[in-house]
Amino acid sequence: MLDRPYRVNPTAAAPVALTDKQMFMLFPTPLFMGKVSDISLCDRVETKLRDLKNSGVGHSSPEGAVLAYMSPDDIQTLPEMKELVDVIMRESGQILDALAVKRDSHYISNMWANIANPNRRHHLHIHPNCLLSGIIYIATPKRCGQTLFVSPRLLSKGLEPTYTQKNELNADVFSFPAEKGRMVMWPAHLPHGVEQGAAEEADERIVVAFNIMIRGKIEQHTAQLSLL
Ligand SMILES: [Fe+2]
Repeated sequence: MLDRPYRVNPTAAAPVALTDKQMFMLFPTPLFMGKVSDISLCDRVETKLRDLKNSGVGHSSPEGAVLAYMSPDDIQTLPEMKELVDVIMRESGQILDALAVKRDSHYISNMWANIANPNRRHHLHIHPNCLLSGIIYIATPKRCGQTLFVSPRLLSKGLEPTYTQKNELNADVFSFPAEKGRMVMWPAHLPHGVEQGAAEEADERIVVAFNIMIRGKIEQHTAQLSLL
């Protein structure tokens, strides 16, 4: 495996080498991404979210603090969200199929929106009590904070060497620019957060987040569970 194998005597026979070498990528973490075909969907959703915020429904940051409004967490039930809910349900169903998840059905267990200062950082976290989590960007000021995903192995590392370069074998952080209309879904155990942005403060970053859960009976010996 070394580029220049160590030899005690250059005249001696070549040392035993390893042949038929293979590398397996074990336990990959899938991240699913796509863009809505009708971007005006985001504008319709934004109108409703601003109505909610202006009517005092949900939680806003205290007066004088950095703007961080969070809607109620059941906005999937609002008629104005049906168009978006339909996309989420269809796409999450396909992802559960790709993951071969046996189920009777699936549903959005929680869905909420954040309207925030575009540069607001959000700590790393996971979404408990669901199988998949996702977001769709509704409004993304230029240079607003990027969503960041980190490998679950990151927090279990006892030793982190310095790398001569980052590559897909050693990188534990993945981020990409926020883009209006882009939807991302991932296994719910994947830690994520939002990086500090560098946008015009007057603009607002709006994201709808959601969790996906299944109904059905998990039939696993010693680990049975009925999910209604
Ligand atoms: Fe989150």
